[in-house]
Amino acid sequence: MTPDLMEDGARRLATYQAGLAAQGGNTASGGRAAGFARLAVPNEVDTTHGRILYLEDVSVSFDGFKAINNLSLDIAPGELRCIIGPNGAGKTTLMDIITGKTRPDSGQVFFGSTIDLLRYKEAEIAQMGIGRKFQKPTVFEQLTVFENLELALKTNKAVTASMIFKLDSAQSDRLAEVLHTIHLNGSASSLAGYLSHGQKQWLEIGMLLMQDPKLLLLDEPVAGMTDEETERTAELFLSLKGKHSLMVVEHDMSFINTISDIVTVLCDGSVLAQGTLAQVQSDERVIEVYLGR
Ligand SMILES: Nc1ncnc2c1ncn2[C@@H]1O[C@H](COP(=O)(O)OP(=O)(O)OP(=O)(O)O)[C@@H](O)[C@H]1O
Ligand SMILES: [Mg+2]
Repeated sequence: MTPDLMEDGARRLATYQAGLAAQGGNTASGGRAAGFARLAVPNEVDTTHGRILYLEDVSVSFDGFKAINNLSLDIAPGELRCIIGPNGAGKTTLMDIITGKTRPDSGQVFFGSTIDLLRYKEAEIAQMGIGRKFQKPTVFEQLTVFENLELALKTNKAVTASMIFKLDSAQSDRLAEVLHTIHLNGSASSLAGYLSHGQKQWLEIGMLLMQDPKLLLLDEPVAGMTDEETERTAELFLSLKGKHSLMVVEHDMSFINTISDIVTVLCDGSVLAQGTLAQVQSDERVIEVYLGR
């Protein structure tokens, strides 16, 4: 395992641990914040208004440059939303804002209709059920596929203690289900380091799924994959749709064509167009700034 991968893994583990600690800590915060914290429990996201995620008039500047500019967007529960747009459009920054990594200068960001995400820290947001997949796979290469998935369930124990961590029967069932979902049931005892790039990506998605996230944010998930891996990833995402809400950023148009319902085109930090892929592909403005390159 390369040092930076180890570092990434350790950082993620720390995030899980901090998340749990933060959740426990919320109850002591008192007053209004404690009321909101009560909602920060899985299964308590209020989607009765038909939205799992809602952003309104969000802006953020870096050194005077508006990376996100009055962006409004909402996603329905169970939806698989694709986000496309030129380099620098603000796609990754959008995910940074949803996950609490970047604070917007203005605007609103809600998870369901009641949870104001701008009140929470990155680890708390992860704990609430928003999982994020970065482009580079960050699995523990010296552990098996099974152990990686098992580790994803652990929250407040040291890495070494994971070896004696016992799954309960519901967790075992979940792990078996996830192994099947990510097409790795034949590789449960293989070291993650021996997996292909695509398989490592699936394993990392599996680690997110172990937490049963409500919303999954996936940034360029098929970059570097073979055509066959890309096709299987499309099947995987389509199988997740409905059970989870997904926001997928990709430049691979044939992948987008396979998985998409509604596509949002970002440009200069705002929504330039939205609709089916066919609709946005025939939009002159989209052709000019992105597809026509
Ligand atoms: N932390 C930061 N500090 C300064 N500038 C930033 C920061 N994060 C993003 N930017 C700038 O904001 C703009 C949007 O970047 P972002 O990474 O969100 O684009 P993107 O749509 O994900 O592009 P790509 O398709 O290349 O991944 C870019 O001009 C980028 O340089
Ligand atoms: Mg990006």
